[in-house]
Amino acid sequence: MQDWLAAGTLDDVWEGEMHAVNLAAVDVVLCNIDGEVHAYQDRCPHLANRLSDGKLRENILTCPAHEWVFDARTGKGVNPVDASLRRFPVRVDGDCILVRLGQVG
Ligand code: FES
Repeated sequence: MQDWLAAGTLDDVWEGEMHAVNLAAVDVVLCNIDGEVHAYQDRCPHLANRLSDGKLRENILTCPAHEWVFDARTGKGVNPVDASLRRFPVRVDGDCILVRLGQVG
């Protein structure tokens, strides 16, 4: 079982914002949606561009390269609907954000 990794604090990713971090050589984007933090691999499933360079509006995360669109609460594709992001478990301990990477392929 892999450990939870410290990914910063709630001050690093305010509500409605996203924040890129590198955890154990894995690029991760944190999204704070309505006070809940979600973590995804910072790599678009289309052609691997960094999602953290894109836009987050409300719960919609848009890749900067070709504008694929994802629901930042779930990681599921909005357009196209059959795409999805690699999602990681998140835990908040006090104001510390912890992420568990598991197996990243
Ligand atoms: S790389 Fe993200 S939409 Fe093409």
